[in-house]
Amino acid sequence: LKQVLFRNPNEPPVVFHWFPFVGSTITYGMDPPRFFKENRKKYGDCFTFILLGKKTTVYVGPKGNDFILNGKIRDVCAEEIYHPLTTPVFGKDVVYDCPNSKLMEQKKFMKVALTTEAFRSYVPIISDEVTSYFKRCPDFKGKSGVVNICPKMAQITIFTASHALQGKEIRDKFDETLADLYHDLDMGFTPINFMLHWAPLPWNKRRDHAQRTVAKIYMDTIKARRARGETGAQDIMYHLMNSTYKNGVKVPDHEVAHMMIALLMAGQHSSSSTSSWIMLRLASRPDIMEELYQEQIKNLGPDLPPLTYEDLAKLPLNQAIVKETLRLHAPIHSIMRAVKQPMPVPGTKYVIPPNHVLLAAPGVSATDEQYFPQPMLWEPHRWEKDSPLAPSIVRNAPDNGEEEEEKIDYGYGLVSKGTASPYLPFGAGRHRCIGEQFANVQLQTIVAMTVRLFRFRNVDGQEGVVGTDYASLFSRPLEPANIVWERRDAAQA
Ligand code: HEM
Repeated sequence: LKQVLFRNPNEPPVVFHWFPFVGSTITYGMDPPRFFKENRKKYGDCFTFILLGKKTTVYVGPKGNDFILNGKIRDVCAEEIYHPLTTPVFGKDVVYDCPNSKLMEQKKFMKVALTTEAFRSYVPIISDEVTSYFKRCPDFKGKSGVVNICPKMAQITIFTASHALQGKEIRDKFDETLADLYHDLDMGFTPINFMLHWAPLPWNKRRDHAQRTVAKIYMDTIKARRARGETGAQDIMYHLMNSTYKNGVKVPDHEVAHMMIALLMAGQHSSSSTSSWIMLRLASRPDIMEELYQEQIKNLGPDLPPLTYEDLAKLPLNQAIVKETLRLHAPIHSIMRAVKQPMPVPGTKYVIPPNHVLLAAPGVSATDEQYFPQPMLWEPHRWEKDSPLAPSIVRNAPDNGEEEEEKIDYGYGLVSKGTASPYLPFGAGRHRCIGEQFANVQLQTIVAMTVRLFRFRNVDGQEGVVGTDYASLFSRPLEPANIVWERRDAAQA
């Protein structure tokens, strides 16, 4: 009653809760998308809930996405939220441990390294890593078997990303020390560490030790590469080693090292969760997996030549697999910002006060039937323009096949301004993902190479796919996520 009577009419409604500090923390944490959808029905697109004592205002739908993700720098702040969690893992002076203008410059350095020429060099690297992984992994020996796909995809992701983005020298160290060290770093990257990042807990000690050791490995590698006088490499590390801030200061080695950690951590969880979901979805739709194989035979030739960057554009269904999987399984379910000034919500009487946190959840509009017919159905063909399930953003796209986008310069090159879109798995605005193209190239190559080697299906008795694990920062499949694999050549023999 108190919560209803003393409600401030100029603030969004507050989700009912029994206990002051706990608020809705548990119902939110168990299943964030369900929490957003149920409360949206009760309270509308904009509502507030209590998350560990903090008033957290959710604004869903394209307008909410725009309001939060396109918020002005004087109104919203990402680093205030992310800094305590990320700085002990990434290290000092990068990403959220520096002013936003410096992050913008750092993102620009990384973004400009990701040229078409670089992508062209990455596709063979990624394909070779995938093929050699499946050749040497003991769980894929023989003609067929059952495997929990998530740890396999996590390994493939780290081998492909480290090799392409950080060079062969670093990739080789993943067979030695780096894999375990990254695992320890990962232990410091959990929701509980939003609160306990400072505590002298055993896993925080291991995290701090791993951070120092990994940073030193990168710095030693940088020194060795400089000493060799290397030229013309295509990995991001090499590019950062040779970048200079606007104020004339060369990017120091420790910042290059810390950015390398940040990049791998940012890409690892999101890409490996996505590739796991793709494999699970393919196992539940063997007909689509077969279509993918036939698409390669038809468009690349029956002898399936080594895959190139240009080939990826000739495989529309292969591209749509990634797009559709990210629509249903976006790894980042909540994007948060601290409010710095009172923020009037356009078209409403609400003003969001500075003690609130804003939360954008683009996954809500990506699964809203207003934009996507039969929203919970995984159907990659919906991304074809004349599909009856095509979302309006595809159906109304101009005929040249490109989606119409307004571009804006945030200081690190033109990025899509399309913040009022219902489909934003890579975020939008100044904090938008710089890894989108890389993730697409990486995921499409992994899928194309896997499809060449295997047929997948669900284990007997399983329909559809497993549920989602929301307990870590990035949502991912609940494990064990078992699938049945069968070698294509074994079946033909
Ligand atoms: C930011 C998603 C892969 C690097 C973001 C954001 C999202 C996102 C939603 C915005 C976060 C926010 O606004 O707070 C994804 C997904 C991926 C992916 C779904 C794969 C499927 C990658 C990869 C890299 C990367 C592979 C590195 C190569 C970054 C960076 C930022 C970012 C540096 C900027 C953070 C900021 O400006 O605050 N990503 N990402 N991401 N991502 Fe990704």
